[in-house]
Amino acid sequence: MTTKVSAEEMALQRDFIQKVAEINGKGAPPVAHVHTFGCQQNVSDGEKLKGMLAEMGYGFSETPDGADLVIFNTCAVRENAEDRVFGNLGALKHEKARNPKMIIGVCGCMVQQAHITEKIKRSFPHVDLVFGTNALHTLPQLIYGQLTEHKRKFFIPEGDGVIAEGVPVRRESALKVSVPIMYGCNNFCSYCIVPYVRGRERSRELSDIISEVKDALKNGAKEILLLGQNVNSYGKELNTSFSELLRRINALDGEFKICYMSSHPKDFSDELIDTIAECGKVTRHFHLPVQSGSDRVLKEMNRYYGREDYFKIIDYIREKVPNAAITSDIIVGFPGETYEDFQETLSLVERVKFDSLFTFIYSSRKGTKAASLPDPISAEEKGRWFRELLDVQEKMGENAYSRYVGGTFRVLCEGVGRTDSALLTGKTPQDVIVDFEGDKSLIGQFVNVKIEKALNWALIGKIV
Ligand code: 5AD
Ligand code: SF4
Repeated sequence: MTTKVSAEEMALQRDFIQKVAEINGKGAPPVAHVHTFGCQQNVSDGEKLKGMLAEMGYGFSETPDGADLVIFNTCAVRENAEDRVFGNLGALKHEKARNPKMIIGVCGCMVQQAHITEKIKRSFPHVDLVFGTNALHTLPQLIYGQLTEHKRKFFIPEGDGVIAEGVPVRRESALKVSVPIMYGCNNFCSYCIVPYVRGRERSRELSDIISEVKDALKNGAKEILLLGQNVNSYGKELNTSFSELLRRINALDGEFKICYMSSHPKDFSDELIDTIAECGKVTRHFHLPVQSGSDRVLKEMNRYYGREDYFKIIDYIREKVPNAAITSDIIVGFPGETYEDFQETLSLVERVKFDSLFTFIYSSRKGTKAASLPDPISAEEKGRWFRELLDVQEKMGENAYSRYVGGTFRVLCEGVGRTDSALLTGKTPQDVIVDFEGDKSLIGQFVNVKIEKALNWALIGKIV
């Protein structure tokens, strides 16, 4: 089965780009506001939405005020992400009353859920266009429909997901470039909505990825962020692997940094760690979401590893990649989690000593397995556990950055300083922010920075 959108279909969409551009060319240039919620994958989709819109003649605005077209590119991973979208959509009602010609579109993960599209149909009549994650590349046709027929449209194609090559991209940054390598997820962690809204795992052809990376490097990119819901399972159906892909990109000419997200511990093999250790361009930051420290909860979460497996991975990383930074995601209050289970998470955090943590309170997602489990612990109790975890991590993270002081690291100058705008800023190979003195003409170049001081969220250094 091929998941690649056919060349004919992509050519059809290019025709629609021309048709919309002709319509838009007749009046003052129209303005679009694209608001992306959620993860890097979504940001990358947002760059494609903007790429198509730019070719259709749209300029862009930072706010919806006065825009001709507003698109919300949504996230479904937790309830508060969805609430934010509904809040923003509600606020647009008045704007649309003032400007009835405004086209309002909603796309992304949220609208892959039937109960959400029903709610939009019923309660948000000012929304004109709703399109699913598999319909992203059909935006030109959908916009053409809006401009010529002015009819409300919901377009959520069924199926396991597609790969659309050749969609125009308008990158947020020329220096730091995101390149999707795979889409979808097959893991079905019991709490997670992603497999339901992003479809089955599918990898882009190695050659398509390499040529996009080469193009980006030719255009001045210095950091390549490889994206997927689960990058470690890249290439399984193509007889290649994430290790192979890293090796191939690492071997390309020029000085640049390779980052990737997201990873799953179950697929984080010794071979991959060996590969990363050998590939000097690959980040020394390992973001390995553990989610829980309790074997019982991990099993209920359908994670396919236990805490000892996780420790083995961490120990092997520390052995093979000196000075690696390790970070993680943790969910507090999974259904049925007891205080004893939660203590196991705390002890894991104390054992691993993460450089930093992203912590979440469990959010029930309709249709997932966990949503049907009994969940007797109150929100207040979960809130207390959550703060306990933050306290433990704060203690562990205290002085975590002092280990960098005295070291010298290769750093890409990314822009003006975050602690002081008279300084420059960049990141160490471990992805720790470092500010340092230097001329603005260095932005976009790599320099050697010696670390002189550690704050609790950044480093201060000096070019040597
Ligand atoms: N509730 C809370 N957190 C979640 N995450 C994913 N699904 C949920 C959920 N239902 C968290 C996980 C994941 C991160 C991106 O979001 O920790 O790693
Ligand atoms: Fe949110 Fe997941 Fe969709 Fe990313 S893939 S936008 S995290 S639901």
